[in-house]
Amino acid sequence: MNTIEIAGRYSTLANETCCLSCGGAAEKSEAKTGEVCIDLGSGRGTDVLRLAEEVGESGFIYGVDVTEEMVRKATSTASKMGIENVKFVLADLEQIPLESEIADLIISNCTLNHVSNKTKVWDEIYRLLKNGGRFVISDIYSSEPVPEEYAKDPEAVAECWAGSITKTEYLAIIKNAGFKDFSILEESQPYPKGKIDVSSFTITATKDEFSCC
Ligand SMILES: C[S@@+](CC[C@H](N)C(=O)[O-])C[C@H]1O[C@@H](n2cnc3c(N)ncnc32)[C@H](O)[C@@H]1O
Repeated sequence: MNTIEIAGRYSTLANETCCLSCGGAAEKSEAKTGEVCIDLGSGRGTDVLRLAEEVGESGFIYGVDVTEEMVRKATSTASKMGIENVKFVLADLEQIPLESEIADLIISNCTLNHVSNKTKVWDEIYRLLKNGGRFVISDIYSSEPVPEEYAKDPEAVAECWAGSITKTEYLAIIKNAGFKDFSILEESQPYPKGKIDVSSFTITATKDEFSCC
């Protein structure tokens, strides 16, 4: 799977108005005054700007996205709106150039399915959260393993379906990253997308390094 090709498709979408989301991570995240948050795959910056208002001047929000045009658009919108407690970082989610244990909250909306190495991104989520910090992530999972011919097709991945994995695989990766308990806040029935059936869900867990097993 080629991240550059995925970014190529999203460059065009950066300046369009169509909806990019598949869930309600930002709505459900309940960001609090003073919190430091990260939005993974921040796109045009809509959720980052919303969270910036919720955390207030004493908080800070980072948006991370691999598409240059998305980062440029989001930065320019924040600047036009006079919002200063945000920063948009150009990076692949497999290796995020932010210091460990920086975040109280990590959100993501319809992005993690695009990432080729999902173990790496979940390890990054664990690394970036403070102990006691939480993630609220909306994404899709596939009803059946995605046939390899689609899973390796960057165009199909960029259409938000071919990069998905099954729910069993998804939850195993989260657990292996170090998160012990999680809750599913919302979950759809399977629906057709591209050549497969997927479901959308929003999942949350808290990093608790010291609880046993
Ligand atoms: C479907 S859009 C969602 C954007 C935003 N979260 C929203 O809900 O409006 C997916 C975003 O993820 C970004 N993306 C895809 N693969 C990525 C990767 N490996 N690392 C960082 N960002 C990625 C794309 O550039 C795009 O902006």
